[in-house]
Amino acid sequence: MNDAQKLDTICSLLTWGTARLQQAAIEHPRREARLLLAHALEMTQEGLLREQNRAVSASRYEAFVARRARREPLAHVTGRREFWSLDLLVSPVTLIPRPESESLIEAAVAAFPDRSQVGAILDLGTGTGCLLLAALTEFPDAFGIGVDRSENALGLAARNASRLGLAARSGWICADWESAIAGQFDLVLCNPPYIPTSELAGLIPEVAGYEPRLALDGGDAGLAAYTRVVPAIPRLLRARGKAILELGPGQAEPVARMAQRAGLEPACRPDLAGVSRAMLLVGQNPAKALGSGGVGG
Ligand SMILES: C[S@@+](CC[C@H](N)C(=O)[O-])C[C@H]1O[C@@H](n2cnc3c(N)ncnc32)[C@H](O)[C@@H]1O
Repeated sequence: MNDAQKLDTICSLLTWGTARLQQAAIEHPRREARLLLAHALEMTQEGLLREQNRAVSASRYEAFVARRARREPLAHVTGRREFWSLDLLVSPVTLIPRPESESLIEAAVAAFPDRSQVGAILDLGTGTGCLLLAALTEFPDAFGIGVDRSENALGLAARNASRLGLAARSGWICADWESAIAGQFDLVLCNPPYIPTSELAGLIPEVAGYEPRLALDGGDAGLAAYTRVVPAIPRLLRARGKAILELGPGQAEPVARMAQRAGLEPACRPDLAGVSRAMLLVGQNPAKALGSGGVGG
């Protein structure tokens, strides 16, 4: 019999789980122990607090804590991650949505104050579908296409769309970036893999050990996907269309140069940490025609 099976109240299981996760160098052990226990018992966190002395079975929780102690991402253990207030299914087939990617949705909302102007959205490298699905909730008249090279990621994205009631407004295409896309869009979103290959081995265990290389590896300087996607953007945009790309640290300048070479006007919105995460791109002439004084959102 192991430690977890000896302990039976919610309170003591939380203490045990916190200690196990602390030993495994998990940054917020108590918070994660609580989340895992709530997930194992299918209770809310408030419920755990209210019923601290209730005796419960420990085995499911024990298995979850053991997985997390091996540095499997919390989101893989629970199978869920919240993005833009949407409850998404996640799995090892693609990237776990990151909070910083929400800045692309903030930029999209700022770029189109009149939400009805967005009728068609393209999301290149859609993964869980997080960006496209969040955008569809903000632009209620829009239809969206998510593209990914991974069939498994697209299956996950389609399940997320169904669970959120967005299946009828979304389509999913397995392809190499924009190669299979003939149409034009009001909004193009793209969060490509952008980590330089040489940095992959040094990533935290949760990322290096559990997230797929296809979602992370940006080639030598981390810019391989931009080199491919940015020149294609002009043909994907409708007359007043806008593209928004996620960037890694230090990538704003080289990507801005690529955009200018492609005839696009780039503008960045730094996030709260001062990192330029979301780059907005518009065709140079439409920006002037709009009289917007720039594209900074
Ligand atoms: C950084 S992840 C982003 C996933 C999701 N959009 C997000 O923001 O969480 C990059 C995604 O691009 C996909 N991808 C990688 N290479 C691709 C390619 N050549 N064509 C299409 N998608 C690709 C990966 O499978 C992965 O889902």
